Amino acid sequence: MGSNYNLKYVLHSLFSDSDGTNQKLKRFLENKYNGKAILTYKGREALILALKILNLPKESQIAINGFTCFAVYKAVEQAGLTPICLDLDEKNTDLNFSPETLEKALKENSNIKAVIVQNTLGYPADIEKISKTCSEKNIILIEDLAHCVGAKYRDGKETGSPRFAGEAGSVGDFVALSFSQDKVIDAVSGGALIIKNKQYNNLAIQQFSNINIYQKLKDRLYPLLTYKIRFLYDSGLGKPFHFLLKKFNLLSKPMQEGLYDFYSLPEWYCNLTLREFNNLTKQLNHRKEIAKIYAKNLNKKILQERIINMIDLSSNLRFPIFVENRNSLIKFLKKSKIFISDIWYDDVAKDCPNAVNISHKILNLPAHINVSRQDALKIAERINAWLKSH
Ligand SMILES: Cc1ncc(COP(=O)(O)O)c(C=O)c1O
Repeated sequence: MGSNYNLKYVLHSLFSDSDGTNQKLKRFLENKYNGKAILTYKGREALILALKILNLPKESQIAINGFTCFAVYKAVEQAGLTPICLDLDEKNTDLNFSPETLEKALKENSNIKAVIVQNTLGYPADIEKISKTCSEKNIILIEDLAHCVGAKYRDGKETGSPRFAGEAGSVGDFVALSFSQDKVIDAVSGGALIIKNKQYNNLAIQQFSNINIYQKLKDRLYPLLTYKIRFLYDSGLGKPFHFLLKKFNLLSKPMQEGLYDFYSLPEWYCNLTLREFNNLTKQLNHRKEIAKIYAKNLNKKILQERIINMIDLSSNLRFPIFVENRNSLIKFLKKSKIFISDIWYDDVAKDCPNAVNISHKILNLPAHINVSRQDALKIAERINAWLKSH
């Protein structure tokens, strides 16, 4: 909550507002992702819009990661289609489904017409094989960049098709972006759909509604309020302050019902989004450095090798560790005033046993700008101490 904000961000968010940023952001995204951009108030709206534009028969099914956010699942349903969850591999070496799992699902189920790849927590999926399968079987590929703006599919130095050496967002027929709270690009809220497949470029898009003024006010105050909560936490005042804000519904919530309709994105959010893109390289370098500190210093038995090997490619939205008895670790860390409880997904597809298994063990360590090198070292040291006593 409020992980990406510093004082500069807070001041900017309170007082900034400039005309024309809406068009500026659109042009920026169209350039960056090479397609037609449509701005939305939430990332989930971009996913729904992509699926609606496809105009698929009612019985169509959409393959998604079994280890995903409820918003993705719900977006497919909201588009009037059926989500099919693809499980992680049994050996749990990846947070994305494998190309083999996708191929098997496509063989068994001819109703699957599109697939959403999300590069969970910023760690890239095997897009080269997935994309090849999609082309061969005429399946629409949607890249969901909610976690992975700035992630790379492959080290540019490697040989192979140059198409895959690029950033996430360079491969799909559609790209969905989220600029919501605690994402890599954090503008409190926002999203965009990029239509990259020219076949769908010229469709008329309906007029979107305006988000209500109360929601806009809550969003504008969100950076300030969450910054204050964080600032006050060590003194013990942060917790009651947070409690009161929640009680009186003054904090903008990421998972509200009713945010699955189409809303336009006001200038204020566009302004913050552009600012975040401007700072992206610096932010990604910081995230990488913090992830490497965790990888180097944490006991290897709670790490996944594939994730460590991907740090250089990843946007490192979070750094996941895998522990039995996670609650005991969360409690232990609290004693050292380390408040980490991010597990991201606790309501994953029940028909995906490997995803369910991971969802019980995963704990996501922060890599955002407010975590310093010293913080990361302390977090690693405390986790190792907990492991020794267990
Ligand atoms: C993988 C993924 N895609 C899409 C979304 C939806 O983004 P938004 O909250 O902007 O609707 C989320 C939500 O966190 C997510 O985790």
